[in-house]
Amino acid sequence: MNKIFAANWKMYLNEQESLDFVSKILSNKRLFLSNKVMIFPSHTAICSVKSALQNLSSIQVGMQDCDMEMSGAVTGSNSINSTYVDSCIVGHSERRTIFKEDEKIIKQKLENSLKTVESTILCIGETLEEKKQNETFKILDKQLSILPSALNGKKLIIAYEPVWAIGTGLVASNDYIKEVLSYINNALKSLYSDEILSNINLFYGGSVDENSVESLSTIPLLDGFLIGRASADFKKFENILKKMR
Ligand code: PGA
Repeated sequence: MNKIFAANWKMYLNEQESLDFVSKILSNKRLFLSNKVMIFPSHTAICSVKSALQNLSSIQVGMQDCDMEMSGAVTGSNSINSTYVDSCIVGHSERRTIFKEDEKIIKQKLENSLKTVESTILCIGETLEEKKQNETFKILDKQLSILPSALNGKKLIIAYEPVWAIGTGLVASNDYIKEVLSYINNALKSLYSDEILSNINLFYGGSVDENSVESLSTIPLLDGFLIGRASADFKKFENILKKMR
């Protein structure tokens, strides 16, 4: 199966920079059509990116996060139905640490996203401290404990992103990722029927770039990547896609 590349632009690109990125995509249509790509711009750029990509509907556009509420008095926040998107990320480690989001909050966001958009990315992963304490699987169990019993036909992507690998240049080893993904896969198998499992994908994220992507893509069970910094630099993202052609 072709890998899926999800570009999490975080707060790297403003609206104009996002549009400049999209115009480069449009001049390289063939490369972007031959890969499955999802883009997560900052919230203020979602509408313009979506409309600039209207002739390239194979690229999905999503939100980097959504609010726990569907509407109401929540100054500065955005509900999952604040604009039309194909996908949404919930539980990213930056939300967990910077915004102190716990499992209860992420569970509500996951529910909102699953009932509203076509695909939802749930990020999970242990910190360096937790890894050192041999607590990786315990943490993953806790983070997976919020999964619903059914997906109602929606797609779910579990992105395994060890916190110590995000933005650090440290990529987890293939053996380590393989072991963790098979642990996650077994946990999912104990929760869901084969029919539901066919709507779940497993991603890796954490310092993925043009140098690591080829080797990482040989990991069994891996369906795609959630890429931060390297996805917000057109040349780097283009090189990643070229490597995987
Ligand atoms: P990174 O970020 O590729 O910059 O490490 C990945 C992520 O946070 O999703």
